[in-house]
Amino acid sequence: MFNGLKLPVIVAPMFLVSSPELVIQASRNGVIGSFPLLNARTSEILEEWLIAIKGELLDLPWAVNFISHPTNKRFEEDLQLIRKYEPPIVITSLGHPGKVIDVVHSYGGLVYSDVATIKHAKKAAETGVDGLILVANGAGGHAGRLNPFAFLAAVKQFWKGTTILAGGISDGKDILAAKVLGADFAYMGTRFIVATESVASEQYKKMVVNSTVDDIIYTDAFSGVHANYLIPSIEKEGIEINNLPSKESIDFSHMVDVKAWRDIWSAGHGVTTITKIEPIADIIAQLEKEYKEAQQAIAALV
Ligand SMILES: Cc1cc2nc3c(=O)[nH]c(=O)nc-3n(C[C@H](O)[C@H](O)[C@H](O)COP(=O)(O)O)c2cc1C
Repeated sequence: MFNGLKLPVIVAPMFLVSSPELVIQASRNGVIGSFPLLNARTSEILEEWLIAIKGELLDLPWAVNFISHPTNKRFEEDLQLIRKYEPPIVITSLGHPGKVIDVVHSYGGLVYSDVATIKHAKKAAETGVDGLILVANGAGGHAGRLNPFAFLAAVKQFWKGTTILAGGISDGKDILAAKVLGADFAYMGTRFIVATESVASEQYKKMVVNSTVDDIIYTDAFSGVHANYLIPSIEKEGIEINNLPSKESIDFSHMVDVKAWRDIWSAGHGVTTITKIEPIADIIAQLEKEYKEAQQAIAALV
């Protein structure tokens, strides 16, 4: 399935940002596209998306992101659609992937689970997933706190399966660096918010272009789980940045209908080097160029 890839990259699933077109163009252009199932606001819309993506991509790899947390109100419905449309890769987040693994393995698909701590990585490894996505410090969305060097090294001590690294990976040399550290794939979200095919608003895309790493804040104020957000997007809502409340309970129901992710925008530390809004094909071409240049730079060193 991975033979035709131009780069070892998964375009990470992003709530209210990934679209079917982004997935299709990512996978057509030589990386792996993905989207959160909950981006389709109903199961009926989701079914249409799955038919369209499957019809366009045929044997190319693509992935869906399934929130396997009990507060996901569409858990059963979406699992049925996974069974029916057989996405080649299912990425599980925020919960035990057990039930999903049985379904996906029954049709020969792969399950990758995202983890942000060593404890969760060990737990996920025991469930029989095929890949671990290590969400390190600086990632967009619900990011971890671990340094990527230390995180990868620690996980490699007990994990022999596919390893995917996330967090601030923003250009081609970062992708090569992730490979050098021992990752099989780089998992990149923030870099693709600005793709023409993403459904982030123009204002959001422009904010990503104009922001640097200093404009990112890591807080649990909006969902009860720490995530990275663009400070200007919080300020534009009239919220005082130095006075953010701490949320007491974890509530992922906002993944379906809460205002938080629509009005307050997430991005990771990798924003600094993102300089324009452009088609995903051009972003991938740029990453490929940078990746090759980094390979040549390494060859020149030795
Ligand atoms: C706007 C935004 C929305 C996200 N939504 C989701 C989501 O719905 N499900 C998920 O598993 N991860 C989500 N993430 C996390 C990404 O899948 C990925 O882990 C992250 O973007 C990687 O770090 P990077 O942004 O520094 O490249 C989101 C990230 C961003 C920036």
